[in-house]
Amino acid sequence: MTFPVVGMVGGGQLARMTHEAGIPLGIRFRLLSDTPQDSAAQVVADVTVGDYRDLDTLRAFAAGCDVITFDHEHVPTEHLRALEADGIAVRPGPDALVHAQDKAVMRTRLAEIGAPCPRNRVVTDPADVQRFAEEGDGFPVVLKTSRGGYDGKGVWIVRSAAEAEEPFRAGVPVLAEEKVDFVRELAANVVRSPHGQAVSYPVVESIQVDGVCDTVIAPAPGLPDELSARAQRLALTIAREVGVVGHLAVELFEVRGADGSSEILVNELAMRPHNSGHWTMDGAVTSQFANHLRAVLDLPLGDPRPRAPWTVMANVLGGDYPDMYRAYLHCMARDPGLKIHMYGKDVKPGRKVGHVNTYGDDLADVRERARHAAGYLRGTIDE
Ligand SMILES: Nc1ncnc2c1ncn2[C@@H]1O[C@H](COP(=O)(O)OP(=O)(O)OP(=O)(O)O)[C@@H](O)[C@H]1O
Ligand SMILES: [Mg+2]
Repeated sequence: MTFPVVGMVGGGQLARMTHEAGIPLGIRFRLLSDTPQDSAAQVVADVTVGDYRDLDTLRAFAAGCDVITFDHEHVPTEHLRALEADGIAVRPGPDALVHAQDKAVMRTRLAEIGAPCPRNRVVTDPADVQRFAEEGDGFPVVLKTSRGGYDGKGVWIVRSAAEAEEPFRAGVPVLAEEKVDFVRELAANVVRSPHGQAVSYPVVESIQVDGVCDTVIAPAPGLPDELSARAQRLALTIAREVGVVGHLAVELFEVRGADGSSEILVNELAMRPHNSGHWTMDGAVTSQFANHLRAVLDLPLGDPRPRAPWTVMANVLGGDYPDMYRAYLHCMARDPGLKIHMYGKDVKPGRKVGHVNTYGDDLADVRERARHAAGYLRGTIDE
């Protein structure tokens, strides 16, 4: 067999969908998963159950793989350096990935690159948060643990120094940022291969509810061409400067300047397939998952262009209604164009358990179809 073995660390839905994208290419896929029940572990044949924080486990797993890539950002950077020193192809490599692992490192590097960011600095304690507020426009201030956050966990909006105790409890550095009064959130998604080829997807609008991504609209409605091009150039520049291999999501804030013109600020970076790119599974010629695999294997990248004028992705969150399969009957009968992607996860309130994609010519219609299906699957819409 000459087909390569891709080793994926982490058994979540991103691994599951990356595996799915590799099947038509005959790519062999190995998984390092926390448990046999994880989303990807349910569907991948070659699974190692083990702890990604343990170097020996990582070494044994990587020994059978041509390249290692990730479903999450939490593998200790020093372990990745050790694997590289062993001669393992780690993609993205630790020198790039650290910018998605550590928000303080990311902010320092983005400033060097000249990427526009919210005012920010590392703060040492609540009194220092007070000083940070006074250096700018006062409270509220956004505090983020530099490592370990996801889905808004690890992000606090505080209105006083007294409210700023909790973020320091984790014992990791805390980053303070001005609270950006954004018009909306955008994401610029690019994929870069080791020899430097890169592709850029249309810039999307990403709508969060309670700190969790709810809806993504591709392309971002009403985004001026100039700003879209600037966001894509910025993402490509970051990918090159940081040395990203694979998919890079640049989460952005769109802000209104004093003269009424739109500007962008970088919120954060993710170096793996990303929720803001799930629309590409049905809405782009090549999905983010297929392009991530091509990139980590240093294959030529696929066409990132959209297949329809509009694609909308809506996340399906766990609700009170555990039997989502029953809801298929109604959703599929109502909308034959609906694309459902479920992750095999137990339904727990607020947990991402799947997403739906819809696409077409009329944005209002495409959006309504996605909203309806996600709500019906969750059980918040019953007609
Ligand atoms: N400086 C800021 N000003 C205003 N809102 C912010 C700021 N930073 C973060 N937010 C809000 O909090 C959300 C989560 O922040 P961030 O993306 O840094 O956290 P995360 O938990 O690491 O990410 P994710 O939800 O992407 O896993 C953002 O999408 C945005 O809605
Ligand atoms: Mg984020």
